[in-house]
Amino acid sequence: MATLDVLLRLKDMPTWEHGTRISDFSFQGGGPVGTAMVAAAKLGARVGFIGTVGNDEAADLKMRSFHEVGIDLSRLIHRDIPENQVVIVYVHAETGERVFAGVSRTGDTQVGPDELDRDYITSADYLHLDGYHNAAALQAAQWMQAAGKTVVLDGSKTNGPVRGSMRDLVAHVDVLISGSGFVQGLTGEPDLSCALEAALDYGPRIVVQTEGADGAYTVTRGPAGVEERVHTPAFACNVIDTTGAGDVFHGAYIVGLLHGWDVRETARFASAVSALKCTRLGGRAGIPTFEETMAFLQRA
Ligand SMILES: Nc1ncnc2c1ncn2[C@@H]1O[C@H](COP(=O)(O)OP(=O)(O)O)[C@@H](O)[C@H]1O
Ligand SMILES: [Mg+2]
Repeated sequence: MATLDVLLRLKDMPTWEHGTRISDFSFQGGGPVGTAMVAAAKLGARVGFIGTVGNDEAADLKMRSFHEVGIDLSRLIHRDIPENQVVIVYVHAETGERVFAGVSRTGDTQVGPDELDRDYITSADYLHLDGYHNAAALQAAQWMQAAGKTVVLDGSKTNGPVRGSMRDLVAHVDVLISGSGFVQGLTGEPDLSCALEAALDYGPRIVVQTEGADGAYTVTRGPAGVEERVHTPAFACNVIDTTGAGDVFHGAYIVGLLHGWDVRETARFASAVSALKCTRLGGRAGIPTFEETMAFLQRA
């Protein structure tokens, strides 16, 4: 999914009785895979993006940073309708936490499995999915697995059971990287460490769950069951906005895997990229380059 995010930074939310003032605003591309792929490209990976885009100025604005970082858009699917993957993001000026108000979606923006180019998709080493366009996502994941390639899934932040289409997808995923609550919602285990380990039985060989300022928790599966358990602390930073922290973590994580790094090094790199992102308003403005990230890690 790729969205246009309209970001508003404020201390108090408006009510129907009282207006409010915003301290900053921005228009940036967003969406879990969209932002992850901009991060991966900015960090040096060769990236293509598949999703849908509308026909108006909002669509141009949402695609701008894809062009800036040189993402291949040859398989982007154009819909002759106004852009409706638009999200208002209210960012709390004191904590940098955010709440979303998205446009109600119709079926128009879904990618169908028949719109996919199998050869294009399987020419990649990694496929990153976010569970939107779910029929197409499942098809693409199955093709990647048949081709012996790696499928990565963003299991979004969840507070309840994980929905059926997402469960079907997890079975075809090699690397599951989720937001808070996902592995508990997937497995029914309330305890995070038990849930992480239980999630390995659903298919993935690497499971990571990010927990905001509490960092990231990783478990891996080896020939004899659970192999590694790693906690990666978050880096202290001047937090302006956490929008997209998880999304860029995913993109950076794939870049770490492309470098052949182990899960410890990869999660540390991804955490650094996320921390740097959090210092700017919006999911994309703060994404660092590879060199900036390495310099940050050296100082940390
Ligand atoms: N307040 C913060 N300070 C420092 N790093 C953060 C902060 N919030 C998130 N991060 C970094 O970003 C990663 C992903 O953030 P998280 O909040 O779990 O994702 P999301 O809310 O986008 O699903 C964390 O593991 C951490 O490394
Ligand atoms: Mg967060």
